Amino acid sequence: MKVLTILCQKGGVGKTTFVVNLGKLLSHKGHKTLLIDTDPQGNVSTYLNFDKNSKEALNTTDLFENRLDKEIMKVSESLYLIPSNKSITKHSNEKIIGGSKLMKHKNFFREKGFDLILIDTPPTISSLTQESLTISDYYLIPSKPEFLAVEGVSQAMDFAKETINNVIKADPIFLGVVLNQVDTRRSSFQSFENELRFLLADKLFNSKISQLTEIADSPFYAKTVLDFNENSKARLEFIELSEEIFEKVGL
Ligand SMILES: Nc1ncnc2c1ncn2[C@@H]1O[C@H](COP(=O)(O)OP(=O)(O)O)[C@@H](O)[C@H]1O
Ligand SMILES: [Mg+2]
Repeated sequence: MKVLTILCQKGGVGKTTFVVNLGKLLSHKGHKTLLIDTDPQGNVSTYLNFDKNSKEALNTTDLFENRLDKEIMKVSESLYLIPSNKSITKHSNEKIIGGSKLMKHKNFFREKGFDLILIDTPPTISSLTQESLTISDYYLIPSKPEFLAVEGVSQAMDFAKETINNVIKADPIFLGVVLNQVDTRRSSFQSFENELRFLLADKLFNSKISQLTEIADSPFYAKTVLDFNENSKARLEFIELSEEIFEKVGL
């Protein structure tokens, strides 16, 4: 079982879009995949047209409060979701001294036979993200290709490193930064990418996701890239990204 957290305290960079679309693609390939939402906004549920306040579904607050008696909701073949809603807010500023709350359940997830867990995190500095890191083998940071976004990336990297250094038993590997919402027609793009490649070296993914209307519109229609035409750019780019992640993770 591999656990991957997608994080960045900046909003709107594509965390939720990545979790949902990568989850769909990887489960479609036959990997039993679990999405865990730790963002109080619960956008993963909205994206997948799922009721985040469902009383039947095991949600992230249940995990934090050790109530494991509800069902993990199935979204589609091989894809499962532990949704989040605003009730998780009460756990968003806790010190992880007595041990991570999520880590306690790692065996529970193993027993359920998940091959892969993808965790979505809030767009804030939050102990929910730290909790997510404690259970993770890897983490990944999406970023927009904008000058100011570089600051967001370095803050996210610092936050993860501090967590790893200060929270016992957290040792996830930094997979890298993925550029999202790329518009290569912008003249500044190439110099921006070169600068980022210089700073990050092999921690900048070769795959990138373009700025595409079909991705922007997809949550509205509860669609994912799997619902698009086989040759659609969005689908092909996400397949390439998932393959690069696979290569790095060794799944
Ligand atoms: N590659 C893309 N092209 C167009 N729109 C995108 C793309 N990636 C994300 N978006 C849109 O940008 C917004 C923010 O993305 P989201 O995944 O919710 O970011 P985050 O979870 O980091 O806050 C959403 O409306 C989403 O549909
Ligand atoms: Mg989000």
